[in-house]
Amino acid sequence: MSGILLKWGDIVNKTLNYIKDKLKIMPQIGLILGSGLGVLAEEITNPVFLPYQDIPGFPVSTVEGHAGRLVTGELAGVPVLTMQGRFHYYEGYEMDKVTFPIRVMQGLGIKQLLVTNAAGGINLSFEPGSIMIITDHINLMGTNPLIGSNRDDFGPRFPDMTLAYCPQLQRVVKTVAQDLQITVKEGVYVGVTGPSYETPAEIRYLRAIGADAVGMSTVPEVIIANHGGMSVLGISCITNMAAGVTGQRLNHNEVIETANKVRENLRLLLLGIINNLRQVTNEGL
Ligand code: HPA
Repeated sequence: MSGILLKWGDIVNKTLNYIKDKLKIMPQIGLILGSGLGVLAEEITNPVFLPYQDIPGFPVSTVEGHAGRLVTGELAGVPVLTMQGRFHYYEGYEMDKVTFPIRVMQGLGIKQLLVTNAAGGINLSFEPGSIMIITDHINLMGTNPLIGSNRDDFGPRFPDMTLAYCPQLQRVVKTVAQDLQITVKEGVYVGVTGPSYETPAEIRYLRAIGADAVGMSTVPEVIIANHGGMSVLGISCITNMAAGVTGQRLNHNEVIETANKVRENLRLLLLGIINNLRQVTNEGL
């Protein structure tokens, strides 16, 4: 094992020790809350707040709308570890920084990861405010967080991505959504680096290759979670139709405003999902 890898492993251990010391519960589910959705962490009972800047080894988030802290506690009676704000590649963080929190979750024994994000709608049947279950992704970030020597103790060199988004978890969402009478769409998420939004020509290209929604996150975290043997559920909040679809111009305020409007439905959905999640694993598929 190279010196660099050892050093990185040490950082994870230092981070884990710090977090374990502060925890009152052992979290079972990891939750990443995307742009405008971080307030869901306020639902957590008996919360422990760990600002990223206080956690050894953690990068610090810079984007507006991201509080930048871990929140642990209970959601719907289930112990969770929530990232309120995530690290984006476009902020200048290397992929190992972007995905570091997932390794921490893995180290804490978390087996299920719920990822939410804001995304632009490519599928013409979507509208701003649509909620999309991610069934699969396309990595157009031009890199992969697993590039480099493999940490065999973290996962295999060539991880299978056939079930990158756990089908059983997707079924849970559909059942819960039906009960709550919340409409959910399904589709393929394409991850791009940003930070510029796409051009209309790029959106036509992304539609042609099979993408339903586009965003600047999620793909790296999901790759690492799969490498680490976690089951993943991804949910996109379609905050805007992608460039060129409506003829209107895009801005970040619209993204935040739509996310705020969808928040209540997403809150109900996530609580329902977590309540149902305890027994579901990827095994037996
Ligand atoms: N493109 C990329 N990322 C996004 C978008 C978009 O239109 N909306 C929210 N995140």
